[in-house]
Amino acid sequence: MQVYEKELKVRAEEVNAILDRYAPAGECPAVLKEAMVYSLQAGGKRIRPVLLLETARLCGGRRETAEVLAAALEMIHTYSLIHDDLPAMDDDTLRRGRPTNHVVYGEGMAVLAGDGLLSYAFELMLESIPYGTDEIVPYLRAVKRIAAAAGHNGMIAGQAMDLLSEGKEPDAEVLQYIHRHKTGAILSASVLAAAIAAGADERQLDALERYAAAIGLAFQLADDVLDIRGDKGKVGKTIGKDQAAQKLTYPLVYGMDQTLAKLQELNVEAAESLASFGAEARFLIETADFICKRDY
Ligand code: IPE
Ligand code: IPE
Ligand code: MG
Ligand code: MG
Ligand code: MG
Repeated sequence: MQVYEKELKVRAEEVNAILDRYAPAGECPAVLKEAMVYSLQAGGKRIRPVLLLETARLCGGRRETAEVLAAALEMIHTYSLIHDDLPAMDDDTLRRGRPTNHVVYGEGMAVLAGDGLLSYAFELMLESIPYGTDEIVPYLRAVKRIAAAAGHNGMIAGQAMDLLSEGKEPDAEVLQYIHRHKTGAILSASVLAAAIAAGADERQLDALERYAAAIGLAFQLADDVLDIRGDKGKVGKTIGKDQAAQKLTYPLVYGMDQTLAKLQELNVEAAESLASFGAEARFLIETADFICKRDY
């Protein structure tokens, strides 16, 4: 784990450098730019862009293309966190170890900083269309996958269901829906967009879909566990918010023991799904292990 976490940090630094290169610029009000950058550069594990860059390498994708998609994906993820933390949603005051965006800039500016990051992500991806090359169709399909994952049948659907289920009777099917959408969709897109843009074949795509589904669910299970027994300083978020808001979580429906058992099962499933890639899949398999066992 420790060796892996060091490697993850190195790769997260690479992502930070990419994000710096694409920092929002232009003539907009300075405070808006500042609010966007505040959340984008607040740290975070960078697990989605790291997954994207590694999958691109595994599938032989072009690094420059993967870097644009990785930056855009992290912007979309960051926007989702800013909005998720708003008083109208989870009403959180701590994120990535810092006061949340709306605490610093006010609710209106936080909404706009999120809007700005979401739109800019698509501007960046469209600016980078590889016109006149064989890559164009796979590239546009990858962008489409990211759009769908972020949208009203993806992450937004999960976030809507998350709100609708607050305080309701625990329901395993609704829980599955929430987790697959609010978290699974963007995590899956991290892996699949890279593979699609790289022109991966059907067999590779099937294997990666299986892997991504496992880590997508595992990621939110681990998040739910950390909300119960995580360390605030390490996690960088307030602990115990799910129970207070009567959120539908995996531990609520199945209990802690079964949640931890499910995480182990998903870890095995993730590793097995990549068997056909052989030793080349090492980092992705270790990432699944990290996702299942993480304490931040
Ligand atoms: C938090 O995501 C939101 C969820 C989808 C559970 P991360 O745990 O990846 O947050 P950062 O990016 O590391 O801050
Ligand atoms: C949010 O899930 C997933 C997003 C799409 C942002 P949570 O509400 O559980 O995420 P945290 O715990 O605030 O990071
Ligand atoms: Mg939420
Ligand atoms: Mg939240
Ligand atoms: Mg949570």
